[in-house]
Amino acid sequence: MEITIIGLGYVGLVNAVYLASLGHEIFGYDIDKNKISLLRQGVATLEEPNLQSLLTESLPNLRFSTNHKDAIRHASHIFICVDTPQDKDGSVDMKNFYAVLDNIIEDSISDQCIVIRSTVPVGTNKIVKQYLESKSSNHFDVISFPEFLSQGKAISNMIQPDRLILGVNDQKGVALAKEIAQLYLIKKAPVMITSSENAEMIKYASNCFLAMKISYINNIAQLCEKVGADVDKVAKGMSYDPRIGESFLKAGIGYGGSCFPKDTNGLYWIANDNSVSMEIVKSTIDINKSQVEFFLNKIYRRFKSLAGLNVAVLGVAFKGGTEDVRNSQAIPIVKAILEKNANITIYDPLAMDNFQKLFTRHTRIKYVDYPYDALKNADVVLILNDSEEFVNLKPLDFITYMRKPVIFDGRNLYKVESMEGTEYHSIGRPSRVDKVKTRKSL
Ligand code: UGA
Repeated sequence: MEITIIGLGYVGLVNAVYLASLGHEIFGYDIDKNKISLLRQGVATLEEPNLQSLLTESLPNLRFSTNHKDAIRHASHIFICVDTPQDKDGSVDMKNFYAVLDNIIEDSISDQCIVIRSTVPVGTNKIVKQYLESKSSNHFDVISFPEFLSQGKAISNMIQPDRLILGVNDQKGVALAKEIAQLYLIKKAPVMITSSENAEMIKYASNCFLAMKISYINNIAQLCEKVGADVDKVAKGMSYDPRIGESFLKAGIGYGGSCFPKDTNGLYWIANDNSVSMEIVKSTIDINKSQVEFFLNKIYRRFKSLAGLNVAVLGVAFKGGTEDVRNSQAIPIVKAILEKNANITIYDPLAMDNFQKLFTRHTRIKYVDYPYDALKNADVVLILNDSEEFVNLKPLDFITYMRKPVIFDGRNLYKVESMEGTEYHSIGRPSRVDKVKTRKSL
């Protein structure tokens, strides 16, 4: 198999490096010259556990280029991994995806197998085949192979996938899908070869189901606060039912990232387009937006004015363990706090550079290199993601460094009982307001 991977973002780069690490020769293509130049030097362009070391050791099996002719011509298999972002109307923006198809039409010199790893609307596989074959004299087999990796766990997800789902439309496709699955079957995992529509739908249905679980527990959290219940205990109690399970029932300020927000909107749009009412997905989206307001209102209720206060923000990536700030809940929260004329000091172990690019020229935002520097002399701290470093903070850290240890924890990182000596507010749980003194600046 001569594999070319087009688009070296999360999905593409992780696939390229992983397959190369197994001894396959991989050609990686991206339009971004800077990215290609770094990759050629063996520098991973993403923060992902084990990606750098795997890239270093697999470099001899990797070629990187911005030349699509070279990338496409020699390949027997072309994996399309470009992003399919959300368009203004909520639909899926397929511009980048179709640009790749046009390159294939231009450069293909033989029959090829196209493997779609990008998340694409249901029906895309068949449209791709028609599109390519109407404009090229070559024959194209098109396999839908949705990716299920999670940022921060991408390499381990590759090594041990939960499942491999491949969508095909004929018997030849089944044989090709089996060969492709073999590449990833280093450990045992369920393999499902099904129709392309099923495979495309499985990706949307899975992501939206997980997003729905999060919005469900967040909605329950809002009610818990009214009735004096604790959402973490409620989720724990629910999780003993194996039909419910414990995953994706962590209440907080809502989901962000490059997948759930776009895929919930995408599915809602696809449903509308097919005259199916999917109010459950709409509610998932609405509740997720409302979690930010819910969190902010708690802060506004506590402080008559935030003007001139020192606000520490811990965590601006959409979750811990990644440098990705796309659709991070931190973005609207920091914007809102800025509008209240507070001074903000931000710390995130990985995402500060990316966040800084979104908030250029803000004189009231400071970025620091250690969590303690963010806490130093803060009047209040907002915890916005679940980075390991924040999970490990102790009440004494807040008490020692802050002017007053007032904590708004948007990810329920600590047990309320353990936060002695602080004023501690979280999501869907009773607040704890211990007697705390304001002390002089450090
Ligand atoms: C998600 C899916 O989990 C992957 O299976 C999928 O392959 C990927 O999208 C994709 O489509 O490419 P990812 O976006 O990396 O992966 O992030 P998640 O770990 O799912 O977290 C998404 C958001 O939900 C984060 O903001 C996280 O903080 C939040 N979350 C997650 C909660 O608020 N509560 C939870 O219980 C779990």
